[in-house]
Amino acid sequence: MNEHLKHIREEIDAFSTTSAEEVDKFRLKYLGKKGILTALFDDIRTIAPEKRKEFGENVNTLKKIVQEKVEQLRQTIDNNRSQKTEMLDLSRPANSLSLGSRHPVSIVMQQICQVFEKIGFTVTEGPEIEDDWHNFEALNFPPEHPARDMQDTFFIEKNPDIALRTHTSSIQVRIMENNPPPIRAICPGRVFRNEVVTARSHCIFHQIEGLYIDKHVSFADMKQTLLYFAKEMFGSHIKIRLRPSYFPFTEPSSEMDISCDICGGKGCNLCKYSGWVEILGCGMVDTNVLENMHIDPDKYSGYAFGMGVERMAQQLYKTKDIRLLFENDIRFLKQFQSLC
Ligand code: DAH
Repeated sequence: MNEHLKHIREEIDAFSTTSAEEVDKFRLKYLGKKGILTALFDDIRTIAPEKRKEFGENVNTLKKIVQEKVEQLRQTIDNNRSQKTEMLDLSRPANSLSLGSRHPVSIVMQQICQVFEKIGFTVTEGPEIEDDWHNFEALNFPPEHPARDMQDTFFIEKNPDIALRTHTSSIQVRIMENNPPPIRAICPGRVFRNEVVTARSHCIFHQIEGLYIDKHVSFADMKQTLLYFAKEMFGSHIKIRLRPSYFPFTEPSSEMDISCDICGGKGCNLCKYSGWVEILGCGMVDTNVLENMHIDPDKYSGYAFGMGVERMAQQLYKTKDIRLLFENDIRFLKQFQSLC
């Protein structure tokens, strides 16, 4: 072997590493396209014919040595890796997982329920798929009554008696059917309306219904309860106003506005520049409804109210577009982590 090849052989023998990357570099250095041994193979043509055979054999030997060395180093590195895995400390505490957060709508629903629970209301739920009796008829919406058009309903094609509930007022009926007065209930739930999705309204949203039935319950009791609620939710600076309205299941009926907390009453696009935002409908339970439920209207009276949770969340979190509450974009939801 000539001096040059001997020198290469010494270099090859001296090489050692524990890094897979270095092994690759080593292989390329000798056997790559521009590698040292590859170049020597090309040189064969320039060698005197009588020496060609020996030179070729020597370069071939070096090539085999490099290949074996690469193979052996790779094996050692692989073995070390699997040994390391076996030595993993399984008793070590796991890396902490990043936690999700509760949805702003759930947070607000819980907050509202808690405000009413403090004054003796009990949380009750009901089914999302309802029949005509619970969603309409028992609530004094007779068939063909135009008030049914107030709520665009998703009916089930095969059975017009079944619908997705359009409001949580249907839960009122179920409560009165199953419990004698006195009743104090708060009913959160998801409701459905066949409406176009815009920045202000959605076809699926959440409501919370309230029902209070006892002897001598008056409109003033309702007003005071709702004022307490508004101040607990939005702060003691909040004002309320009741406007006369119409619902088939309450008489008299009202809608309640709160002073807009986004603009402080000055006027903005959320309050349509009026300084007030409507947050709920309410009224004294209609005597027809009490009679439907076999509750004697001469003995008992009561009030009911129903509010939109998303509207409330928009006010609390100053969210202008209701759709943000349905898209489940993590970047939006993350902001509520600290409130959970
Ligand atoms: N159910 C009504 C709606 O979805 C809201 C409502 C109004 C509920 C008046 C009530 C009430 O209990 O008394 O628009």
